Amino acid sequence: MGCGEGRLSRTLRGSGHDVLGVDGSPTLVAAARAAEPAIPVVLADAAALPLGDGVADLAVAFMVLHDVDDLDGVVAEVARVLVPGGRLCAAVVHPLNSAGGFTSRDADSPYVVEGSYFARRRYADAMARDGLEMTFHSCHRPLEDYTGALERSGFVVEALREPVAPPETVRDASNSRWQRMPLFVHLRARLDR
Ligand SMILES: C[S@@+](CC[C@H](N)C(=O)[O-])C[C@H]1O[C@@H](n2cnc3c(N)ncnc32)[C@H](O)[C@@H]1O
Repeated sequence: MGCGEGRLSRTLRGSGHDVLGVDGSPTLVAAARAAEPAIPVVLADAAALPLGDGVADLAVAFMVLHDVDDLDGVVAEVARVLVPGGRLCAAVVHPLNSAGGFTSRDADSPYVVEGSYFARRRYADAMARDGLEMTFHSCHRPLEDYTGALERSGFVVEALREPVAPPETVRDASNSRWQRMPLFVHLRARLDR
């Protein structure tokens, strides 16, 4: 779900999975189709999948659910296309991360949430790496929005992780503040039917 240009789909295929990628961006779908090894990719809104019921045993949404407009609709569609007992693995930006920010780049900088953690809002993150500039448009939602959507579609959460950046990935001292705050939530949920 939200496979983008397909990097994770290719990794999953390399691990022996039979993969179908789905993404709503024509540009990224074209890039995924052009990459090697080729994987089948469909251009679709994850809230309206062109797939039959119960056709998959695993759905993976890596850094996607905080970007979708219709969270409940997407999770309901995932439930529909999964077999009974099928699983959804998802990684999202940690809601505490999208709720606030550090006041400086210092390692011990205070982290401030202005307004309400519970208030849903859209936000945009502009980033540049290796000469490429990208703006990610996302939605801040409290954690309960994710677990609530899973609950309403019949999932039970089997595992939840808050991964911390390992020390070797912290390139300089000014990034070490990110070892004090969660960046991501990783979830594994099982369809309870
Ligand atoms: C942050 S990117 C992650 C891409 C990929 N999973 C990865 O890790 O490289 C989020 C992806 O979700 C897709 N997306 C957002 N909303 C979607 C929707 N409603 N239906 C399908 N894809 C969607 C975007 O086009 C984008 O490719």
